[in-house]
Amino acid sequence: MPEVKEAALANSQQLVARNPVRVGIVGYGTVGKATAEILTANAQEIARRIGVSVLVTRTCRRSPRPLEMGINGLPVTRNWQDVVFADDVDIVVEAVGGTDVALQVLRAALENGKAVVTANKALLAQHGEELFCLAKQNNLPIGIEASVAGGVPVIRAISEALAADRIQAVYGIVNGTSNYILTQMEQHGIEFAEALEQAQKAGYAEADPSLDIDGLDARDKIAILARIAFGLAVNIAEIPVTGIRQVTATDFHYAHRLNSTIRLVASAERTGDGVHLAVQPWLEPRDSMLAKVDGANNAIFIAGERVGTQMLYGRGAGGSATGTAVLSDVLQIAQQIARGGASASGLAGFHNGKRTPLLPRPHAVSWFLRLTVQDRPGILARTAEAIAHCGINIDSVIQEPHMPKDNLSFVITLEPICEKTAREAVQAINQFEFMKSPVLLLPMISSAEEHV
Ligand code: NDP
Ligand code: HSE
Repeated sequence: MPEVKEAALANSQQLVARNPVRVGIVGYGTVGKATAEILTANAQEIARRIGVSVLVTRTCRRSPRPLEMGINGLPVTRNWQDVVFADDVDIVVEAVGGTDVALQVLRAALENGKAVVTANKALLAQHGEELFCLAKQNNLPIGIEASVAGGVPVIRAISEALAADRIQAVYGIVNGTSNYILTQMEQHGIEFAEALEQAQKAGYAEADPSLDIDGLDARDKIAILARIAFGLAVNIAEIPVTGIRQVTATDFHYAHRLNSTIRLVASAERTGDGVHLAVQPWLEPRDSMLAKVDGANNAIFIAGERVGTQMLYGRGAGGSATGTAVLSDVLQIAQQIARGGASASGLAGFHNGKRTPLLPRPHAVSWFLRLTVQDRPGILARTAEAIAHCGINIDSVIQEPHMPKDNLSFVITLEPICEKTAREAVQAINQFEFMKSPVLLLPMISSAEEHV
């Protein structure tokens, strides 16, 4: 191990004062290819703006076509080792995805004295501490701007622009695919499966789209933001997550009756001795900022003690937006290399972050319950009784007339109550024999500030 470290330090010396700076890209799909194309198309403009030439020297993917040529007529090779161990690569961009090969690529790159840039939130959420530790040992930078919110520079906003403030909360829409699906269902009345297919075609979705629709991608992103904002270590397995699979066109109909819409919101907030983190679909007022975020766009609210609440908004997924974010790191590191040496990036929360208990949401909120039942007399009475039994006050009951009797959906809204009590009521209702599917339980708010 000491020899590896020495070799790495020796190699990192070779990064000193190089111009042009050479980039190797591992993974030539949506993000990797867009990164190479943008860098090449804007090469002259970039050199003029930052005073350093940056060029792609190697690319690889899992299954290149025979004699496949990539950018600048470079061959697209098959083995990531051809990129990571190449002498003509200073910065390795990992655009493979997943947590197996990607982890090997980043470990090998750092151990061989290369700076690294990744858009891989799953990898960072699971192995970020190890990777930042390895980077620190080898005094090499890791760029992770593209890992959260695609083209929106939220990592830099929190870790640099707002570094002087104490961040109280970060929340918003951080998964473009889910937001695209929800807004397509809402605006065009299309089914979930069709909207997902469109998001996949557009290059927004993960290779395994269940990561998007089950809220796991949003979980990984909010964990990264919480680490950076609060300087705390976060165990993703402890974060409560609800995705959007259960949301139907009927839910949008009832949401509209309540002058609201539905959005998947990830939130992180300091509370008492710990932090609260969650990912779940919310009922948002239609005139709120979050309700107006459509398509694959993202919006992140950052609430600081001194700076107040700021919102960042923009394209959260897709090759061009993400490639631009990848390149923001590449260019920053290239400038360091050209000036005489890249050094480790010290992102709070990834270095010796204190483990903190994850606590329940500290305040009560209103709730939207959609029940789908086999219709018969007495359903409302029994449901209301179960809710009253938990000490909860009903705010409204909404049921459209002439619904199909064998699949009737109606909505009950509850006055503000803590999540634990709302779930107790839902658990009791789910036992009733007339229920066709489990209750859809969504928190509701009347303004964005109520998320924290
Ligand atoms: P893609 O599936 O489009 O591309 C992945 C690329 O990695 C493919 O070219 C694939 O090869 C290649 N690959 C897979 N395994 C290997 C291997 N063993 N060796 C070499 N290459 C390999 O994914 P994306 O570009 O969409 O995503 C890449 C990363 O960026 C992920 O971590 C994702 O979470 C992240 N990201 C994606 C965003 C997006 O909007 N798409 C936005 C923000 C982050 P082949 O082409 O031959 O299959
Ligand atoms: N699949 C991710 C999304 C890509 O839809 O947001 C951007 O991280």
